[in-house]
Amino acid sequence: MGDGEENAGEGGVMAEIAIRDAAHHEGNSATIRGWLYHHRSGGKIIFLVLRDGTGLMQAIVLRNAVPPDVFRQAKELTQESSLEVTGIIRRVPEGKTAPGGVEMEVTDLKTIQRVPAERPFPISPKEHGIEFLLDQRHLWLRSSRQHAILKVRHEVIAATRNFFDQRGFTLVDTPIFTPAACEGTTTLFEVPYFDEKAYLTQSGQLYNEAAAAAFGKVYSFGPTFRAEKSKTRRHLTEFWMVEPEVGHATLEDILVLAEDLISEILSRVLGNCSSHLATLNREMEPLRGIAPPFPRLTYDEAVSILKSKGSDIEWGSDLGGADETLLAGQFDRPVVVHRYPSEAKAFYMEPDPHRPEVALSADVLAPEGYGEIIGGGQRATSLEFLCQRIREHGLPSEAFEWYLDLRRYGNFPHSGFGMGIERVVAWICGLEHVREAIPFPRTIYRLTP
Ligand code: 4AD
Ligand code: MG
Repeated sequence: MGDGEENAGEGGVMAEIAIRDAAHHEGNSATIRGWLYHHRSGGKIIFLVLRDGTGLMQAIVLRNAVPPDVFRQAKELTQESSLEVTGIIRRVPEGKTAPGGVEMEVTDLKTIQRVPAERPFPISPKEHGIEFLLDQRHLWLRSSRQHAILKVRHEVIAATRNFFDQRGFTLVDTPIFTPAACEGTTTLFEVPYFDEKAYLTQSGQLYNEAAAAAFGKVYSFGPTFRAEKSKTRRHLTEFWMVEPEVGHATLEDILVLAEDLISEILSRVLGNCSSHLATLNREMEPLRGIAPPFPRLTYDEAVSILKSKGSDIEWGSDLGGADETLLAGQFDRPVVVHRYPSEAKAFYMEPDPHRPEVALSADVLAPEGYGEIIGGGQRATSLEFLCQRIREHGLPSEAFEWYLDLRRYGNFPHSGFGMGIERVVAWICGLEHVREAIPFPRTIYRLTP
């Protein structure tokens, strides 16, 4: 059913419409195909709340206004039955509210499939536990709340793609089966690959570096996998990451890119998704004022702030989730922490020339306790240094020969970052856990549905 696509029905003016567009059809007859969201019936009147994926609309069936068979069908409808309803679109009377301001006075109704009353839709308006809802994820997606979250996700992704496309980046698709680790061996998923072993990608970065030498500015956007044993509200085993890589860019250049990206995503979501954010009861004020520049702290400054707030962090370790929350809580916008100790980070980070024990790396931490949403930095260019780091990290050097070729043939400075889509969606939507930010979440304990 295309937006605004109109089909002349039998017997004259009849348009098949999307609920989102219903207000434009006021006073006319229209048909909506959808599902029954709620049902309330009195003796002579039945209220149906329909959903069609574009919105919710109330349809009213009056016993006197429809053939007896239509009234009977309407009465027997059960939650989530699929149906086609025809009627006149009317403005809702003064004093009543309705989404879009219109409702339908039903003249005809066809049940496509009636959910049998003996086996009703498992998710009723009553409260259900989270594990039950996750088991029913294939059906739970239909709820207003999940619908709103995934519409915001769609907008975040569209804004992200648009951001890079408008700036002359080329999209490159990086492989999912890979021969080696990018982000460390402890979170690798191993899969049998004919007579050898393969690993599910942790990041497209190394391939983006190759592509940056071919195209200048590139980005990859795809699923990435981490065998994290973490049970935190920020970790999935499968998540989507967008990763720009920019030839001749410095750490500072990609931090500016990251700030602009986040600001553009926010402005687009606030502009296009305010009704979805309202469905989620998301306070929009904290998101509205966010604009570059974001505050910047060195890792050293971050550690001393954290110590003064009672954290037991020691110089040299990565920030834990609680540290990130504590730190980000000091600011009303995302905060950048840069120059982490090299020992806490991946093998490919360029050391700071003025202080080789720290890397030209940075993370962007979201406000309101959502933690790291972006991680990246400047890539090491020295062939010798990279060979040494690969050895120190216990990585199989043969698997990195192709990567080292990038330092042998037209070596060039370059930088990039990765942004986790679910973390961004969780923050913007104000979710308790990233698992609601992806259609079918994969976590340490969940592989179904
Ligand atoms: O910080 P990470 O591990 O960085 C990289 O993978 C780099 N190679 C990216 C690059 O420079 N091209 O991951 C980047 C982002 C994190 O900031 C976070 O938003 C997200 O990916 N992320 C996760 N999201 C959900 N579940 C997990 N287990 C995640 N691990 C990382
Ligand atoms: Mg990181």
